[in-house]
Amino acid sequence: EAGVETLHQILATHRGMEGALLPILHAVQAAFGHVPQDALPIIAKDQNISRAEAHGVMSFYHDFRENPAGRTVLKLCRAEACQAVGADDLADHARAKTGLDWHETSADGALTLEPVFCLGLCACGPAAMVNGKLVGRADAAKLDKILEGAR
Ligand code: FES
Repeated sequence: EAGVETLHQILATHRGMEGALLPILHAVQAAFGHVPQDALPIIAKDQNISRAEAHGVMSFYHDFRENPAGRTVLKLCRAEACQAVGADDLADHARAKTGLDWHETSADGALTLEPVFCLGLCACGPAAMVNGKLVGRADAAKLDKILEGAR
């Protein structure tokens, strides 16, 4: 299968490298869009660690996805400057409206909701990012529009 071959290529590329686990996870995510569940035991074995350890590393760094992302990825800034201008309310609104919690993807694959810690848009908070595009002064109305478009 093509996926397994790609995985073995990635492992081969990192062979002998010290601290290869993170670069491998990044490469796998770049190749597949997420780190497939089936890949984890293979990666763990390659790195001489347990599956639980590999999983622990993966969940420690929130950059890694265990499942494919939704077609729209909505990131909301959770850092201080944005919190001071209403990011918490906005986050509550997003979660209530979508029924998703952080890092979750809707069952239809339309939307993934993610927290992010500062998008460098602190002066125009609350800040959001929609599929890589920055959105400043995000409010409930803007968010509703984004969610509308994400169906
Ligand atoms: Fe939200 Fe910097 S604190 S963009």
